[in-house]
Amino acid sequence: MSEAVPPQRELRSHQWYGTDGLRSFSHRARTRQLGYLPEEHLGKPVVAVLNTWSDINPCHSHLRERAQAVKRGVWQAGGFPLEFPVSTLSETFQKPTPMLYRNLLAMETEELLRSYPVDGAVLLGGCDKTTPALLMGATSADVPAVFVPAGPMLPGHWRGETLGSGTDMWKYWDDHRAGLIGDCELGELEAGLARSPGHCMTMGTASTLTAAAEALGVTMPGASSIPAVDSGHERMAAAAGLRIVGLIREGRTLADILTREAFEDAVTTVLGLGGSTNAVIHLIAMAGRAGVPLALDDFDRLARDVPVLANVRPSGGPYLMEDFHFAGGLPGFLSRIPDLLHLDRPTVAHDTLREQLAGALVHHDDVIRPRTKPVAAEGGVAVLRGNLCPDGAVIKHIAAEPRLLRHTGPAVVFDDYRTLQRTINDPALGITPDHVLVLRGSGPRGGPGMPEYGMLPLPDYLLKQGVRDMVRISDARMSGTSYGACVLHVAPESHVGGPLALVRTGDPITLDVPARTLTLGVDPGELERRRVAWTPPPERYERGYGALYAEHITQADTGCDFAFLAKKGNVPDPYAG
Ligand code: FES
Ligand code: MG
Repeated sequence: MSEAVPPQRELRSHQWYGTDGLRSFSHRARTRQLGYLPEEHLGKPVVAVLNTWSDINPCHSHLRERAQAVKRGVWQAGGFPLEFPVSTLSETFQKPTPMLYRNLLAMETEELLRSYPVDGAVLLGGCDKTTPALLMGATSADVPAVFVPAGPMLPGHWRGETLGSGTDMWKYWDDHRAGLIGDCELGELEAGLARSPGHCMTMGTASTLTAAAEALGVTMPGASSIPAVDSGHERMAAAAGLRIVGLIREGRTLADILTREAFEDAVTTVLGLGGSTNAVIHLIAMAGRAGVPLALDDFDRLARDVPVLANVRPSGGPYLMEDFHFAGGLPGFLSRIPDLLHLDRPTVAHDTLREQLAGALVHHDDVIRPRTKPVAAEGGVAVLRGNLCPDGAVIKHIAAEPRLLRHTGPAVVFDDYRTLQRTINDPALGITPDHVLVLRGSGPRGGPGMPEYGMLPLPDYLLKQGVRDMVRISDARMSGTSYGACVLHVAPESHVGGPLALVRTGDPITLDVPARTLTLGVDPGELERRRVAWTPPPERYERGYGALYAEHITQADTGCDFAFLAKKGNVPDPYAG
């Protein structure tokens, strides 16, 4: 980490600042305009600090200050930091879904890092899709990078109870619909659910993906669970700033870190945390950028050996991310499964993961369970196959009522989410707890962007009878903080003519999680007749980004990247023209 500074010509930024031509002169003049002395930056590694801070993103509202801590570290290590505001993907506010914009942020990240004088990057994100987007872009840009996870918000509180963001919102909203709590209680919950900066503090998509980033080896050790407002979070940001300068000097890019072994360990981590199903799509997309083959079946294969040890909501519980952090965080968790990891691979901070985990301990056995007392014996996500999902589907079975994991029932089909919302409470549909709710038109292209509709709402009249779970099937995704017997990511999606497009109300559907199957009980001849009669729905967007998206998006089983971004190929160096 502490080799001598190489001559500046070895830095990529040298092309901008250090040559004799007019362009270099102009760049130096413009850096004087920014107020910097030549000795403050010439010959120093330029570190881009990519910041997803925004007034509209409560999960990132502390990242303006954290960027200052990163810069502090960069200066201390002899680098030259430059902050770049990049677009934010605010899970709560961005519609129809931030997933539609993950690839846009990935493109923005890649192109900024390529087109400006940048030798390495520190990436600030954490709210759901920001983590994969930033890492996908930086991987394609092929620069050294350190990811600074935004950290979980503080636990919520209400009338003596601890609240988990997302998870308890769904729960109490259902209680409200069932008439169990009123407007007054709802007002109190509104003020108590999310009480500090930081991303969702359950093991939702944000915590799952930042943990995956740490397991991949692209964060500082222990970074992912530090509460957003803990002063340790600021120190971690400064440490990332210090470290990126060393990585640049060593010439170690993300490609050196993001190996097949690293991705297998990230999958193992996600499964052992009982993490979000969204991680399946994002990790496949991230691996694609690194040129690493990773498929749905890798998740299912690894899941059979990985016990769920994190007793954190929504899959486990009652604990939240702050408890997980003080119980030892990700290093503590990983120290319980060394036999399932590749310990000899490098991370941004250490030559080997083994070195990084040395001395890691668990301090609370009920939060991070011992192997002898797991939350579940097998990983939380199962991959299903069958005539309803030839290219696969996923279910987070540990967050479902066990009685539903082997279930046959008649389908009730909704062609889109708006129809479902409008009609689900209509008693004329005669929905019973044994029915299987089916939603289509919500996939990568049809949604578009696979909105998180997958936890389909149950009819009010069933909620009032105390029913809290049913088998639900869709080509949508589900929030990482959601729960229930929800089969998700059905591929191919209905919009492109997947078998989901052919299901009719009343068709029997069988879910068998132990056998990993999802079967539509309709004979092949009849299905073929329906297929011939099927006409593709029109594209939702006729122009703009939505049209570009529909044209290039890949299916869920291959990560929903744009085909032209997922592939390998030459991109000219901006200076070579
Ligand atoms: Fe940002 Fe949940 S809303 S992580
Ligand atoms: Mg979410």
